Amino acid sequence: MCCNIRAVRDWHPAYTRSMLLLGIESSCDETGVALVESHGNALPLLRAHALHSQIAMHQAYGGVVPELASRDHIRRVLPLTETVLAEAGRSLAEIDVVAYTRGPGLAGALLVGAGVACALGAALGKPVLGVHHLEGHLLSPFLSADPPEFPFVALLVSGGHTQLMRVDGVGRYQLLGETIDDAAGEAFDKSAKLMGLPYPGGPWLAKLAEEGNATAFKLPRPLLHSGDLDFSFAGLKTAVLTQAKKLGTALEVNKADLAASTQAAIVEVLLKKSMAALEQTGLKRLVVAGGVGANRSLREQLNAACAKRGVRVHYPELHLCTDNGAMIAMAAAMRLQSGLVEASERYAFDVKPRWPMASLMTPEAPSRVPA
Ligand SMILES: Nc1ncnc2c1ncn2[C@@H]1O[C@H](COP(=O)(O)OP(=O)(O)OP(=O)(O)O)[C@@H](O)[C@H]1O
Ligand SMILES: [Mg+2]
Repeated sequence: MCCNIRAVRDWHPAYTRSMLLLGIESSCDETGVALVESHGNALPLLRAHALHSQIAMHQAYGGVVPELASRDHIRRVLPLTETVLAEAGRSLAEIDVVAYTRGPGLAGALLVGAGVACALGAALGKPVLGVHHLEGHLLSPFLSADPPEFPFVALLVSGGHTQLMRVDGVGRYQLLGETIDDAAGEAFDKSAKLMGLPYPGGPWLAKLAEEGNATAFKLPRPLLHSGDLDFSFAGLKTAVLTQAKKLGTALEVNKADLAASTQAAIVEVLLKKSMAALEQTGLKRLVVAGGVGANRSLREQLNAACAKRGVRVHYPELHLCTDNGAMIAMAAAMRLQSGLVEASERYAFDVKPRWPMASLMTPEAPSRVPA
């Protein structure tokens, strides 16, 4: 395979004027494909996106089955690519860069997106770019009708990650705090599973919580007063399990109260730590990204707390909170605009199932702010 790396700027003379990027996401249980167009340094625009969620397929197993996920990505990725091209009225030949999720995620699932992206790039003679999945989530609010401006504090709350970051620009990230065990999304999902709710439990638990009393059960707020910006949610799940066992057959009639109490505990910790991060950095802008960012109670409480402090808060569009191809195409476009990376014509690909976000940070930004 050709190992000649050529900068997209050299390859495409119109790079600084206009660029059409295809983004492919396949890190877990959603196949997402999107087209984003960027013009010079203006904020890139979403032209079309299509998504296939595998939730129904995995529901019978109570969680993601990696082999089934990979096989389904294979089935979906090309039809979804045809869909977005048709929706945007564009052809394959017009694509300038093919971006894909390189990691972190399930190895087999990532390999499908990476393989298709690199094959497409090679066949079209266009460069490819591997994108960090979490950077996709982080930059997804730039696709919203109310995009943020740098700098800001980012609360990244997804199924596998919970992090607070100071973000000064693309690639200029400082980790302020992160979970030392379970992620917030995991806390939602595991607690929901204990209550017998379907997979993935977060949205189900949130829906049930709307009918419950959030003060009915006293649940722990782990690390709330730790003085740092780290999180811990594993103990909360254990407390929910203990409470569910205590209730026994009475769980059914108390389920909404337990759901509301669980959600209140998670939201309070996320809220207080986010406010502490804003105070610590002195920044007046908060960006929330990742699937848990779709939670209504979290949004309401963050909105109220931020309004009191004169802080602007930004979210991704609701349908772009969980995994999607738009955030991958957007992150690729913004990375290329920043000049931090170059798309390449090296089509021999690898994936990074584990990929610390610290490796994306520019040398002048410390990977972690000293406490
Ligand atoms: N309304 C909601 N309330 C609470 N949690 C929610 C809601 N909607 C989605 N979630 C949770 O968001 C998570 C999925 O988000 P996302 O797709 O960003 O994570 P992921 O891709 O699985 O993980 P990662 O991005 O860390 O690899 C799940 O844990 C899901 O339960
Ligand atoms: Mg994700």
